[in-house]
Amino acid sequence: MSFNFLLTETTDGIAKVTINREKAMNALNPDVLKEIRDCFTALSADASVRVVIVTGAGEKAFVAGADIAAMSSMTPQDALEFGKLGHSAMDAVDQCSKPVIAAVNGFCLGGGMELALSCDFMYVSEKAKLGLPEVNLGLFPGWGGTQRLARLVGKGRAKEMIFSAKIISAQEAFEAGIANKICKPEDLLNDVQAVAVEITKKAPVAVSLAKKTLHQGFDMPLAQGLDLEKNTFAKCFETQDLKEGLAAFLEKRAANFKGN
Ligand code: CAA
Repeated sequence: MSFNFLLTETTDGIAKVTINREKAMNALNPDVLKEIRDCFTALSADASVRVVIVTGAGEKAFVAGADIAAMSSMTPQDALEFGKLGHSAMDAVDQCSKPVIAAVNGFCLGGGMELALSCDFMYVSEKAKLGLPEVNLGLFPGWGGTQRLARLVGKGRAKEMIFSAKIISAQEAFEAGIANKICKPEDLLNDVQAVAVEITKKAPVAVSLAKKTLHQGFDMPLAQGLDLEKNTFAKCFETQDLKEGLAAFLEKRAANFKGN
C-alpha cells in the first residue's frame, strides 16, 4: 500500500508509520485522515505485523492538530463529516489488533494529541509539547480528546487542559500519566523500538486479546469486565502459541511464537 502523506516501513514485525507533512507541522487534513484510517485498517489485518510505531516527520512536530486552513471554509455539515472522518481514523488506530505506540517527537496538539491518545501508549521526547488548544480557535477537541483524555487522566485534569488550552511539557505529561516515558530527542525512536521489540517476542494472539479485553472491559462495570476477562483468557487455550509458551517454560528454552 502506498500513501501520499504517510511513510510506512515494516521490519521484523514492527511497522513504523510516519505522518509526513512536515511543512504544515504534519497537520491532519481529510486526505491524511483517510490514509491513517486505511493504513491502520490494513496493518490490523496484516499477520506479519506485531507492533506499530507512529511518529511525525521532522524534528519539530509529531502532529500540530487538525488542518486549520482546511477547516476555515467548512460549514457545520462539512464539520460533521470532518469529525466523522477524524473519528474513523482515530478508531482505526485505537482498535488496531496490534499494540500501537506513539513516539511523540515535538508539538502534539489538538488532533495530534488525539492521535497519540488513540495509541496504546506514548513515549515523548524531552522537547515535546502537548495540549488540546482548540478553544483558542472557537472549537473543542472533536476526534476523541474529550473522551480519551478524561479516561486516561480523570475528568478534572482533562477539563483543566481542555478549558484553558494549556500546553504541557514532557515532564507534566509524564506526571499526569499521559506519557509512559520521557526520552532524549535523539533516543526517542530507539527507546520506542526497544519496547516494540520486547512486545514482538511475546505471544501475538495473547497480546492482541489482552488489548481487546482491556479496551472493552474499561468501559464496563467491574463484574462485567471480569466476566469478559474469564472468557477471553480461555481463548488463549485454543492457540498453538499457548502450548509453545508452556512447553518452552518447562523445557527451559525461549518460546518461538508463531501467532496462531
Ligand atoms: N493546521 C494547518 N497548518 C498548521 C497547523 C495546523 N494545525 N499547525 C501549524 N501549521 C503550519 C503553519 O500555518 C505554518 O505554515 P506556513 O509556513 O505556511 O505559514 C507552518 O505549519 C509552521 O507553523 P508556525 O510558523 O506556526 O510554527 P511555530 O514554530 O511558530 O509554531 C505551533 C508551532 C505552536 C505548533 C503553531 O503552528 C500552532 O499553534 N499550530 C496550531 C496548533 C493548534 O491549534 N492545533 C489544534 C488544531 S484544531 C484541531 O485539532 C481540531 C480537532 O480536535 C479535530
